[in-house]
Amino acid sequence: MSLSLHQYLAREEALHGLDPVLTRLLTSVSEACKAISFKVRNGALAGVLGAAGTSNVQGEDQKKLDVISNDIFVEAVARSGAVCGMLSEEVETVMSVPEDCPVGPYLIAFDPLDGSSNIDINVSIGSIFSVLPCVRPKRDCVEADFLQPGRNQVAAGYCMYGPQTQLVLTLGRGVVMFTLDPTTGTFILTREDVRVERAAKEFAINCSNMRHWEAPVKRYIAELLEGKTGVRGKDFNMRWIAAMVAEVHRILQRGGIFMYPRDHRDLSKPGKLRLMYEANPMSMLIENAGGAATTGRQAILDVVPEKVHQRVAVFLGAAEEVELVTGYHLESDAGMER
Ligand code: F6P
Ligand code: MN
Repeated sequence: MSLSLHQYLAREEALHGLDPVLTRLLTSVSEACKAISFKVRNGALAGVLGAAGTSNVQGEDQKKLDVISNDIFVEAVARSGAVCGMLSEEVETVMSVPEDCPVGPYLIAFDPLDGSSNIDINVSIGSIFSVLPCVRPKRDCVEADFLQPGRNQVAAGYCMYGPQTQLVLTLGRGVVMFTLDPTTGTFILTREDVRVERAAKEFAINCSNMRHWEAPVKRYIAELLEGKTGVRGKDFNMRWIAAMVAEVHRILQRGGIFMYPRDHRDLSKPGKLRLMYEANPMSMLIENAGGAATTGRQAILDVVPEKVHQRVAVFLGAAEEVELVTGYHLESDAGMER
């Protein structure tokens, strides 16, 4: 018998004491993802492609679908009665819940549309979300409420809009995957107990930035590229989809390592990816699948954020590979590099 998302969450409530308010929040998130999925599927027919003509807090040009997805997420989550604050990649300040909506005990951070450069070329994109507890639930949430390490997350996941729409979720007890049945609009549980093998044969990194990388990253990638005849003694394959959601989805299915290291271009930016709504939720998923996720120097989930839109270097996936490249950073910092 196949379980719907709704039935799965009911089972989690019964078996593991999942908070029904969290169920309500996750149901609202899934409704938002479904609405975004329908917009994505219609593409040019729904007039959702192309630039919005605005830029976000990161200084990046917004696409129409970035703005549409953000509005859908904010609307769905604000009305859930489950949160007292929201943080979006597309909005500079943290958002409180409108006066006419009840507040709840959670905070949610989200990247409403990840992989924006793929929108107009009909390649996989996604939405990412992270749920934190709100220490003092109240109507006026502030940035400081969000500045908690990723270890505090009570749920995290993403929805990928690819050939199928799939919702991937962790409640801190493993990783599960749901596939949207387009005929009924129901998310159906299609995979449980997702595991990432310790060893890997595939890596993902944007090599066009190689000249800007730190020495330990250059060393690690050079060794992978040497293949069978090099120190690693085996050949590696490479993939780059330019949407973190799709890279993590691949790693959860067939292993590998994904990297977006910090580089020397702009020292005020420690990496490209954002900690609170990209790196943290993906790290919770990967750790729950038996993989590892670090900044090259420490576990991503242990980073205490200083700013809500903070960036971070990311190495995540197969534990053996993440441990190796993290070791190279630590050796390099200690001046022990070859
Ligand atoms: O959100 C940032 C992002 O789109 C990620 O999804 C993706 O991994 C990365 O940027 C791609 O970056 P680049 O365009 O530098 O390859
Ligand atoms: Mn993103």
